[in-house]
Amino acid sequence: EKGGYEHFMLKEINEQPRSIADCMRGRLDAQNGRLIVGGLRDYINKFQNADRIIITACGTSWHAGLVAEYLFEEFARIPVEVEYASEFRYRNPVINEGDFVIAISQSGETADTLAAIELAKSKGATIFGVCNVVGSSIARATHAGSYTHAGPEIGVASTKAFTAQISVLTMMALMLGYQRGTLSETKYIQLLSELEAIPAKVEKALKLNEQIEKISEQYKDARNFLYLGRGYNFPVALEGALKLKEISYIHAEGYPAAEMKHGPIALIDEEMPVVFIATKDSSYEKVVSNIQEVKARKGKIIAVVTEGDTSVKAMADHVIEIPHAHEALVPLISVVPLQLLSYHIAVMRGCNVDQPRNLAKSVTVE
Ligand code: F6R
Repeated sequence: EKGGYEHFMLKEINEQPRSIADCMRGRLDAQNGRLIVGGLRDYINKFQNADRIIITACGTSWHAGLVAEYLFEEFARIPVEVEYASEFRYRNPVINEGDFVIAISQSGETADTLAAIELAKSKGATIFGVCNVVGSSIARATHAGSYTHAGPEIGVASTKAFTAQISVLTMMALMLGYQRGTLSETKYIQLLSELEAIPAKVEKALKLNEQIEKISEQYKDARNFLYLGRGYNFPVALEGALKLKEISYIHAEGYPAAEMKHGPIALIDEEMPVVFIATKDSSYEKVVSNIQEVKARKGKIIAVVTEGDTSVKAMADHVIEIPHAHEALVPLISVVPLQLLSYHIAVMRGCNVDQPRNLAKSVTVE
């Protein structure tokens, strides 16, 4: 059942090239420049003309929502708000009929997300679900939706569901941007083929497993970790920190790298491992300066970089090189080494990786 892997989590991490491809199958046809997110068909006008997109979710799914905020705003130029379902449902939010609400949930059973949907529905908004479990409560409560088709996720820590959620949301953003005319045809076509190339790049990132296992050995006894990234990699930093916390019980914080100097920098000393996601993108130079700031305070630097990087390599204690991709698609690749890092550290600490203490796979109580 674990397909030869020691844990479901490791199996599911390794399934990602296939689960991402499964998610895109029948939707994306880059050769012919076609992209159809079927679930959107009946609501495409509402989506295209939305005054605002509100994304609501919890945990890892909320992190996928943050990536989507960057995607929707960049490509479709519609304002986006990303809301923790538990806060959204109780704070008397302003919701209008022109709002397009996207609820993201692997299980489709998360109580707070379901309640947020009911609230938004009662205000007349259109609700679209991005769920993994077919026929789940959230899938049924929404007006329309697209399944992530990642296959069953057994490990409590979400991995392949996260990348499948981002895949669906990326397709939605590209489709929306193209139809609204905010994304040029040339760029659209280019992004479609870049998206199609992602599973092979994830496959390549998985080959870093042994290197990451070695790095894990050196940091398994750390008491704290900091994860830093900017732009599309900021949500990846949050996700990397969450993965580590939930399965290894090491305290970790994810932060936008530039926010470090507004507080967390005080934590940095020679005992503090800092994971940077520093791929070659529009914020690369800025991240490089943030790395220098950590280096100057003797923090230990583990950096996820783009293949061929030189500047970060010169400073970091460890570099993990992943294939290059368009920056909007990088989270699909850059999260993989972080999943592996948390996995190996947790295993080395003797933790129950698939069923961490105090956690349940679906949170059906608020
Ligand atoms: C983290 C994790 C949780 C879930 C959260 C939402 O690895 O699994 O943070 O992401 O409980 O669950 P779903 O997506 O089922 O609504």
